[in-house]
Amino acid sequence: MAWALADRPEQLDAAIAARPALISISFGPPESYVGRVRQAGIRVTAQVGTVEEARRAEAAGVDLVVARGAEGGGHGRGEVATLALLQSVLDAVAVPVVAAGGIAGPRGLAAVLAAGAVGAWVGTALLGCTEAGTSATARRRLFDAAETATAYGRVFDVAQGLRWPAEYGGRALRNAFFDAWHDRLDELAENADAAEQLRQARAAEDYDTAVIYAGEGVGLLRSERSVAEVLAEFGRAEDLLRRF
Ligand SMILES: Cc1cc2nc3c(=O)[nH]c(=O)nc-3n(C[C@H](O)[C@H](O)[C@H](O)COP(=O)(O)O)c2cc1C
Repeated sequence: MAWALADRPEQLDAAIAARPALISISFGPPESYVGRVRQAGIRVTAQVGTVEEARRAEAAGVDLVVARGAEGGGHGRGEVATLALLQSVLDAVAVPVVAAGGIAGPRGLAAVLAAGAVGAWVGTALLGCTEAGTSATARRRLFDAAETATAYGRVFDVAQGLRWPAEYGGRALRNAFFDAWHDRLDELAENADAAEQLRQARAAEDYDTAVIYAGEGVGLLRSERSVAEVLAEFGRAEDLLRRF
């Protein structure tokens, strides 16, 4: 999270020390950090939600950009949907482009590969996996959720006093807490009771109040599977592409 690195530069040091194949620096200007990652011999990317962000990331020296549309789960921009964003970003930058947001199975992967993406970046599709840290209660909610079950906003960040920049909201399963506060954010920021309610709900796994981050692809999750099974199913994108 680029916005957090200014105060916590040791987070990037720790990420570099772990020697991953790729480091993603998103949600804020990446230029102060990209050089250090590259000098360490590690590839670097940024998730972008607009063409302007994509151009800025490319100019900063990222190896690839992730065009991440508003359907995606967790944090990101909520302005442009994946397909429209992907087409514009592919036209705007020369570095490889990975697509993200709402890609939860082989059909979605085939679609973005056909458009020119080099791959897909996936979050929600893995949330129900055996290997995920998702609690049993949250998992059930995810499997019951339709594609219409998510909402985008800043409620959960404001309630917890997290300093996410306003343009990076979060997409999560819509619940009673979100509905109660989404149009009263200023009031929520001052409300210590609501913050405490959220903290207790998280401990009690009460997801009418606590947040479960997920994107619109949640409608495709039906039952618990291993990551290997989910990835094998993504592999069917090849068969779909061969039909043309
Ligand atoms: C539960 C959850 C946690 C996430 N945490 C992070 C994170 O820590 N850092 C990050 O860059 N993106 C995070 N994301 C966003 C993903 O990197 C990605 O943009 C998104 O999952 C893609 O859309 P999809 O959920 O429709 O697959 C998270 C997404 C989810 C669903």
